[in-house]
Amino acid sequence: MSVQSHVTLANPQQHIADVLRVNGRDYHITLDVRTTLLDAIREQIGLTGTKKGCDHGQCGACTVFVDGMPMLSCLMLAVMIQGQEITTIEGIAGVDGELHPMQQAFIDQDAFQCGYCTAGQIMSAIACVDQGHTSSSAEIQEFMSGNLCRCAAYPNIIEAILQAIRSLPV
Ligand code: FES
Ligand code: FES
Repeated sequence: MSVQSHVTLANPQQHIADVLRVNGRDYHITLDVRTTLLDAIREQIGLTGTKKGCDHGQCGACTVFVDGMPMLSCLMLAVMIQGQEITTIEGIAGVDGELHPMQQAFIDQDAFQCGYCTAGQIMSAIACVDQGHTSSSAEIQEFMSGNLCRCAAYPNIIEAILQAIRSLPV
């Protein structure tokens, strides 16, 4: 069904999404065309693991996957993501609840303090490994440089990524 067929003429800024597919589940929600993907995920769908830090594309706390690629959800309009596969921090554990190896590594390496940046850090860390930017700690640091941590857990985050690399199948 086309996007245009859902526009509510009485209020051109209202829009009914055909589908917002998050963590393998379809959500039919009414969206303002100006709603960011981050706000749709947190405030309308109710998945609050993804955090809003700066809301300006500068901290990485809002990182999610869109069709497998890490994206800053605060910079994306939700209506533009219809039909694409969105994955949030709630969607990376196994179906039986077993933690993703990167989640486990963050726990094992004490890679957080307040935890506010952690969901975004873990999503970017998974992408870092998946995309092979792991030849050295410096390369990992460079890839992760868009994810800020006010608690300065950076050394532990690097150790967590190195642990996850060791625990993932080659
Ligand atoms: Fe999106 Fe900071 S909340 S980059
Ligand atoms: Fe507090 Fe990163 S653990 S901001």
